[in-house]
Amino acid sequence: MLKLGNLNLDVPFYQAPLSGYTDRAMRVIARSYGAPLTYTGVLLDMIALHEKASRKLFFRPRADESPVGAQILGADPETMAAAAASFANVGFDLIDLNFACPAPKVLRRQRGGYLQKEPDSVIKIIQYVRNSISCPLTIKLRTGFDSSQESIDRFWQICQGAVAEGVDGITIHGRSVRKMYRDRGDWEILAEVKRQFPHATIIGSGDVMDAETVIMRLKTSGLDGVIIARGAIGNPWIFKEARALWEGRPKPEGPSLTEQGEVILKHYELVAEIRPMLKSIRYFRKFTVGYSRRHPERKQVQADLIHARNRDQLFAAVKKWYGVG
Ligand SMILES: Cc1cc2nc3c(=O)[nH]c(=O)nc-3n(C[C@H](O)[C@H](O)[C@H](O)COP(=O)(O)O)c2cc1C
Repeated sequence: MLKLGNLNLDVPFYQAPLSGYTDRAMRVIARSYGAPLTYTGVLLDMIALHEKASRKLFFRPRADESPVGAQILGADPETMAAAAASFANVGFDLIDLNFACPAPKVLRRQRGGYLQKEPDSVIKIIQYVRNSISCPLTIKLRTGFDSSQESIDRFWQICQGAVAEGVDGITIHGRSVRKMYRDRGDWEILAEVKRQFPHATIIGSGDVMDAETVIMRLKTSGLDGVIIARGAIGNPWIFKEARALWEGRPKPEGPSLTEQGEVILKHYELVAEIRPMLKSIRYFRKFTVGYSRRHPERKQVQADLIHARNRDQLFAAVKKWYGVG
């Protein structure tokens, strides 16, 4: 059981926020395979305050995907607070603040990971947002801006301040902002955070690519939970497998080709509900890499799925390789 404020999750792992991936379609699929919580990809605070954008389909969670968290990016405490309130009002169950994003355009605008240079700004944003919502509030960090002692000190200052402000969870990706995705994530620092703040809820992230790693990280780090990010792209079965292992059952047999094909089609149909046809086909390509990985003829399957130019071609490719559709 994992508690994030008033949200009780029956397993201590869930779907990580993934910009460009965790839209409603991926969230629904992840939930159907046992993710007890999912997130949006990071959303700029201003979007929540822009009336036209906020009416769009992608903005609102639907009942069948609850609970779902909205992750917000921004730098101004008042705007972040107003955005958080707006997301909570349209039905998101949890608000997560992004102080981790390493994308250059985000850093240039002094948002996301940049704010790890400014512990006071981070704490002020947390205070404003906390006062604007009544649902659970979590934050996402990396282990500092870079590997300098100054950055490490600021990282600890942020953890301490966030715990003092009573955030409901701190998720930490075990790499500095400057590291982007290089090298392996450092789980020892994450374990140290839990040792320093034993009463806080600390969630770990980094290189969790299969169900065995989910369980290994939970058992060896002492953390309260783990998020599954790249490991869930085109692989919702990871949630089912991790559930089985966590409950002491053997890892289930991999999905049959029929089941894989059905999930690919279902995922695409959900994408098509929120995107026009041409865009949906282009957008869906990146998922086919993950989905085809379980097929014995992986390379040819991937090539066929990626080359589909419209719905009919995608369905024909799935029929050819998976026998469904
Ligand atoms: C394509 C992509 C998009 C991501 N988008 C977000 C995001 O919107 N918000 C966030 O907090 N982290 C984001 N992340 C970071 C992941 O949530 C996670 O912390 C990171 O990938 C490390 O976990 P992994 O090595 O198991 O993938 C993203 C990562 C990737 C690869």
